[in-house]
Amino acid sequence: MWAAPTAASWERARFRPGQRVLDVGCGPGYATFDLADLVTPSGGVVAVDVSQRFVAHLDAERARRGYAHVEPHVQDLEQLAIEDASVDGAFARWVLCWVRDPEEVVRRVARALRPGGAFVVLDYCHYEALMMAPRGAATDRIIRAVTESFRQSGGNPDVGRDVPAMMQRAGLEIETLRPIVRLARPGTALWEWPWRFFENFLPGLVASGGLSADDHAAFRREWAERSRDPAAWLLTPPMVEVIGRRRA
Ligand SMILES: C[S@@+](CC[C@H](N)C(=O)[O-])C[C@H]1O[C@@H](n2cnc3c(N)ncnc32)[C@H](O)[C@@H]1O
Repeated sequence: MWAAPTAASWERARFRPGQRVLDVGCGPGYATFDLADLVTPSGGVVAVDVSQRFVAHLDAERARRGYAHVEPHVQDLEQLAIEDASVDGAFARWVLCWVRDPEEVVRRVARALRPGGAFVVLDYCHYEALMMAPRGAATDRIIRAVTESFRQSGGNPDVGRDVPAMMQRAGLEIETLRPIVRLARPGTALWEWPWRFFENFLPGLVASGGLSADDHAAFRREWAERSRDPAAWLLTPPMVEVIGRRRA
């Protein structure tokens, strides 16, 4: 769903074949293999995530596809240990919003960049602006509950606002700042994207007391109604693309 806008960001950052790129908080590898295709086997992708499960999945997929130029590592980004000036680029999508100390992560990634290397961040800058039309009270409650749970778990659902300043303090020059907001209508693949997130995330939120079972059920009904309404639409939570570059 996000491969095309992400590839456009990589292009603006001038990621290219032969480079060694760090996938910061790679998850199960949604972007990792696209990045590996871009840098080709003459380059490489160092893929780091704190989740053993995600990294094991990525490693199995790497072996299955025969991508010897992808190196998966289990590491906490707040203690990211990678040689200084060892990568040509770095990429973090939807990661800084989850970490407790994003500034420390930005600092460590900036140090890992070679002079001239770019750090591409795609992250939320105002999560609560996720918007459903026609407006629904149940959806509004879900958005508030999800935003609150982000904060309670130590994350920041608006982290994108602060990323340029963090990059600047880490010695990077801000090269581009762009908004990313997309409009989805029922029946499209993009419409399914927030739905899948909610279907995965909300049961845990109910179990932990962050949302009532009634509110969850009301949301599922409201979503089903909107999904049948040709006049319905939604805006994805606004994100910002920040590209910072280490001086050559
Ligand atoms: C929403 S996923 C994004 C995955 C991937 N970047 C993508 O765009 O598909 C967030 C990822 O950040 C990872 N993460 C969160 N905190 C982390 C930390 N402190 N160190 C390393 N990874 C972390 C999670 O394990 C998860 O894989």
